[in-house]
Amino acid sequence: MDQSSSTPNRNLALELVRTTEAAAMAASRQMGRGDKNAADQAAVDAMRVVLNGVQMDGTVIIGEGEKDEAPMLFNGEKIGNGSPPHTDIAVDPIDGTTLTAYGRSGAIAVIAAAEQGSMFDPGPLVYMEKIAVGPEGVGVVDIRQPIEDNLHALAKAKGKNVRELNVMILDRPRHEKYIAQIRDVGARISLISDGDVAGAIATAWPESGVDLLFGIGGTPEGVITAAALKSMGGDLQGKLWMRNDEERKVAEEAGFSLNKILGMNDLISSTNCFFAATGITSGSLLKGVRFDKGTIQTQSLVMRGRSGTVRLIDAVHQPHKLAELHGDDFVA
Ligand code: FBP
Repeated sequence: MDQSSSTPNRNLALELVRTTEAAAMAASRQMGRGDKNAADQAAVDAMRVVLNGVQMDGTVIIGEGEKDEAPMLFNGEKIGNGSPPHTDIAVDPIDGTTLTAYGRSGAIAVIAAAEQGSMFDPGPLVYMEKIAVGPEGVGVVDIRQPIEDNLHALAKAKGKNVRELNVMILDRPRHEKYIAQIRDVGARISLISDGDVAGAIATAWPESGVDLLFGIGGTPEGVITAAALKSMGGDLQGKLWMRNDEERKVAEEAGFSLNKILGMNDLISSTNCFFAATGITSGSLLKGVRFDKGTIQTQSLVMRGRSGTVRLIDAVHQPHKLAELHGDDFVA
């Protein structure tokens, strides 16, 4: 991608948002139907239709499905129309497949793009321990420090009492110890059943009221989140987390350094990166897909790393016209 020009160059995210809108609209048709694979398949199919028309030579570094064996935009797949820019792509057509399948809040469709060769490839490593904060927490929190210390430091940096902090954490048995520690400090907690991409971004989105995201979640989600937080000026630190010895062995054989702290520049080394997300079900970050008198309404976030511009885009779609243009794939 061109880094040299001083004139504002192309904002790929403004085109990529069409892929997350399409994925969200298709996924929302499956909302509450109890079938997460059907929702994922609908989102993947819709995203792929739009992706193929985007002017780029994209390679999927992070596809959908390593953890869930879900229908994939598979790793290594070439996407876009094949002309420059050459980009690494990370997709999560639904972050929150279960949220979508049960109509719970906070599911989003997400994509991130970055200059070719700049995106961390987690391979088969599913989980990472992460800590994410907005701009006021940069240089303040450190994943190597106890959570108590991080909470006190963040409260001080934000000019708050530690009891006023809101810590978002996935509601998982593996987090019991952390949850007890956060409660001991006296901070407030938002336990989420899924969706730590939106949770991490919320830390840099003042209206959300979230101060910190902490805990073990998806590695792919961590990389995608880094693209957003680069634009928003926040921070994410991660450490790969192994479920068992077998996974540890695979990781070591593949050359991963398991004790390394992965900072923003390890996850995405270029500032030439882009992020787009569209709400599927309404959450603290984005409104979900709404259907009204023959139209479909979506809300999306669009970000560009180099400029740091964050756009909130409300769109009204005409499903009958989209069906004429693209077939039923993303509106059926
Ligand atoms: P899916 O949409 O693929 O189900 O992922 C949702 C999610 O909650 C992520 O946001 C999070 O990073 C990860 O799953 C946590 O994994 P697990 O559900 O295995 O604890």
